[in-house]
Amino acid sequence: MSLDIKNIYKIFGEGTSETKVLNGIDFTVNQGEFIIIKGASGSGKTTLLTILGGLLSQSSGEILYNGKPMYSDLNHAAKMRLHEIGFIFQSSHLIPYLNVAEQLITIGVEAGMDKKEAKNRAETLLSSIGLSHRLNAYPSMLSGGEKQRVAIMRAFMNQPKIILADEPTASLDATRATEVVEMIDSKVKQSGLIGIMITHDKRLFSYADKVIELDEGKVIQAQ
Ligand SMILES: Nc1ncnc2c1ncn2[C@@H]1O[C@H](COP(=O)(O)OP(=O)(O)OP(=O)(O)O)[C@@H](O)[C@H]1O
Ligand SMILES: [Mg+2]
Repeated sequence: MSLDIKNIYKIFGEGTSETKVLNGIDFTVNQGEFIIIKGASGSGKTTLLTILGGLLSQSSGEILYNGKPMYSDLNHAAKMRLHEIGFIFQSSHLIPYLNVAEQLITIGVEAGMDKKEAKNRAETLLSSIGLSHRLNAYPSMLSGGEKQRVAIMRAFMNQPKIILADEPTASLDATRATEVVEMIDSKVKQSGLIGIMITHDKRLFSYADKVIELDEGKVIQAQ
C-alpha cells in the first residue's frame, strides 16, 4: 500500500484574486509510515491535507493510491472517504444531538457494520482513550479535550487505511497530546496504515518516521 503525491498545485481564485497555495508538492508515503507535516501558518498544510482527503480537488498533479488515481470521480471519492480514510479535523465537528457512543456507531453502520458490531467497536475505541464513563454524554457536556478524543476515535471507526489529522492535539494538554499521537502511531504501525498528521508541536516530531516541512506551498525539507 502506498500514497504517491505527484506534483500537486492548488490555485484559489482567478485573475487578480488568484492565490497559488500549493506549488508542486511531491512525496510518497508507504504502508506503516507515519508522516508529520510542519510549516508556518499559511504555508498550505491544511489545503494539502484536504486535497489528500478528497474534500477539495487539486488544480493539477496526481494522487496515486496503490498506483491508481485516488479520486477518479465523485462517486469513487465518496467511497474512498467512507471506507479508506479517517479524517481528524482541528476542531471536533461532533453532531450536537448524538451522544458519544452514537457519534461512532453512526459511522460504523454507514460503513457497513451491523449495529451490535458497531456498538462493540465504538465502546472498545472509546475505552482505549479513557472515555468509557462518557458514552451517554452529549457534546455540549464535554470538555474541549474530551470532544477531540471522541473525534479521533470516530476517525478510526470505519477501519481506515489512511489516517489524516490536522493539528488534532491543538486543544489537548501535553500528556493527552502525547497519548493521542502514540495511539495514532501505534495504530499505523500495528495495522499497517498510512498516517499523515499536521502539527507545530516539536515534542511530537520524534513519533514520525519522517517530518516534512512546507514553505509557501513547497516541500523545503524532508527528514
Ligand atoms: N478557499 C480558499 N480560498 C482562497 N484562499 C484560500 C482558501 N483556503 C485557503 N486559502 C489560502 O491558502 C493559504 C494556505 O492556507 P492553509 O489553510 O492551507 O494554511 P496552513 O498551512 O494550514 O496554515 P495554519 O497553520 O494557519 O493552519 C492561506 O494563505 C489561505 O488564506
Ligand atoms: Mg491549517
